[in-house]
Amino acid sequence: MDRKRILTGDRITGPLHLGHYFGSLVNRVRLQDEYETFIIAADWQALYDHLEDDRGRGLQANIRGVVLDNLAAGLDPDKATFFIQSEVPELAELTLVFQFLVTVARAKRNPTIKREMVSSGLARESDIGNGEAWGLAADRMNVGFLAFPISQAADILLFKASLVPVGEDQLPHIEQAREIARKFNRLFGETFPEPEGLLSSAPRLRGLDGQAKMSKSLGNAIALSASRSEVEAAVRKAFSGEGHALGEWAELVGLDWRRFESHGELRMREFKPALAGALNDLLEPMRLRRAEFASRPGFIRELLHHGRERARAVARETMREVRARMGMEYTF
Ligand code: TRP
Repeated sequence: MDRKRILTGDRITGPLHLGHYFGSLVNRVRLQDEYETFIIAADWQALYDHLEDDRGRGLQANIRGVVLDNLAAGLDPDKATFFIQSEVPELAELTLVFQFLVTVARAKRNPTIKREMVSSGLARESDIGNGEAWGLAADRMNVGFLAFPISQAADILLFKASLVPVGEDQLPHIEQAREIARKFNRLFGETFPEPEGLLSSAPRLRGLDGQAKMSKSLGNAIALSASRSEVEAAVRKAFSGEGHALGEWAELVGLDWRRFESHGELRMREFKPALAGALNDLLEPMRLRRAEFASRPGFIRELLHHGRERARAVARETMREVRARMGMEYTF
């Protein structure tokens, strides 16, 4: 292997937003020269709580949107390899193998899984702390939900990635991947490097409501593909009471909020338009790049076709090694 690798990517549930940008995309863009970079469009991973959405009819458009979000943010199609999870069957194979290395108890001990159970309506916040969540959810929770971090470990380890740029919520999955790598290596010999998570300086951006982290399902996000007027409207409506998140946003886009302060209060009538303006200044070059890539006929298809070939070449190589190490390279 020549250069060290990055593997990261996005669950295909809808457009990427500023939280993704400041949490992960900035690092993807910054490191794409230094690392061989693989970006996964995780369509299988959408299924644990989005199985019945349009019965899959929205997936293709969402994949296209997420790839364009990455390109708009500055990923270079000649440097990064983009591929779709379900087009690399070796990922399913490695996930299956890894499932035998993880106890049920360990799979349950993942704080992000618990949070996802709440956001997808399988458990209530109050059940999480007292250990009730599992009993209550078990009847409705699919096996793949509990196992998706194992599948995510396969995403990372199949590529022997050493670095995984992500937002804070993903760190438990990376820890699980590290444990799986260690266990496999201990049982079958040194095969997988232990991947490191890489956080940005804003690993957990709060949303427009000032409360939770920015998330599409909570409706408190600004999409990277938002128009100028959508950004203005979102900022105008954003929560600006005690504990709002707008100052943090301003700092991220280099706007000095102190200029808008009098007597310890932000003058929202001036500050909010300035913040919307600064956000639009960040997003405008992305809009131009998005439009440019979107206008090239067949471009996304070609990019994903090439990416699949490149990803599968690595995937076949790793799976051959895994089978050999596990005594499953039969010769009769
Ligand atoms: N779980 C990530 C998200 O919610 C997406 C993802 C899938 C991922 N496989 C990955 C991220 C591997 C990093 C590495 O967006």
